[in-house]
Amino acid sequence: MTGDTGTGGAARPGVAPGTLALVPTMGALHEGHRSLIRLAREHAEHVAVSIFVNPLQFGPAEDFSRYPRTMEADLEVCAAEGVGLVFAPSAAEMYLPDRQVGVSAGTMGTIVEGSFRPGHFDGVLTVVLKLLNLVRPHVAVFGRKDAQQLALIRRMVADLDVPVTVVGGATVREPDGLALSSRNRYLSPADRVTALALSAALRAGAGHTRPADILRAAHAVLDAATAADPPLTLDYLTLADPATFTPVTDDHRGEAVLAVAARVGATRLIDNMVLTLP
Ligand code: PAF
Repeated sequence: MTGDTGTGGAARPGVAPGTLALVPTMGALHEGHRSLIRLAREHAEHVAVSIFVNPLQFGPAEDFSRYPRTMEADLEVCAAEGVGLVFAPSAAEMYLPDRQVGVSAGTMGTIVEGSFRPGHFDGVLTVVLKLLNLVRPHVAVFGRKDAQQLALIRRMVADLDVPVTVVGGATVREPDGLALSSRNRYLSPADRVTALALSAALRAGAGHTRPADILRAAHAVLDAATAADPPLTLDYLTLADPATFTPVTDDHRGEAVLAVAARVGATRLIDNMVLTLP
């Protein structure tokens, strides 16, 4: 655990004294994390940030070893945002060598993103539950860019009676639409141009109201990007119920999440947009 800057404790109107909000992160903090920290400060008197690149949520062929680790810059961001506590454990501190028990994300953890990343959501839920048990916040704040992760964390909190209020924070985008992600720094300038197809596809889909039309419009943009240089390789595009991540049918009314995952070069990107179907 690293120091307490002591700046997070000023009383703010509408915020219950003595409350604590946690923003769990894997570091490489960017403007999206800053917005989550600011959102956390609207919900609690004190704000803690955890920084931990969780080995359990990376598959054997994924980018665990090259995932950006920028602790000094991250601590500066936390200090500038008035974070009162940064919790940055090592893997050895987090996991016993003979660890046996973890959280299962159930069937919902095996669909959509989970079908491309087996075990990923089990690893996410296990570390999130451990972080909640260690830090014991009243509120935990997660980005809505990881929409299925957020839905599963809400499910875990409901299913396991975890005493925390989960708050979702809006995705922050570059002016050209690219959703902020710690992995964007892997993109070459040419990759970045191709990567714009993800957010462009979501915007194209959002121009329609029937699920079939939404998916057709979004696919058209992604299909064009598969012929770009460098090409985009689509993992999935789905229009799903935001709480269960099962695909919506044509008679669906209310909110649906249009979610996409694709690879550009060696970088895998995800994005989503919540649409309201009339
Ligand atoms: O979204 C992330 O950064 C991670 O999945 C989380 C929630 C910090 C768990 O490692």
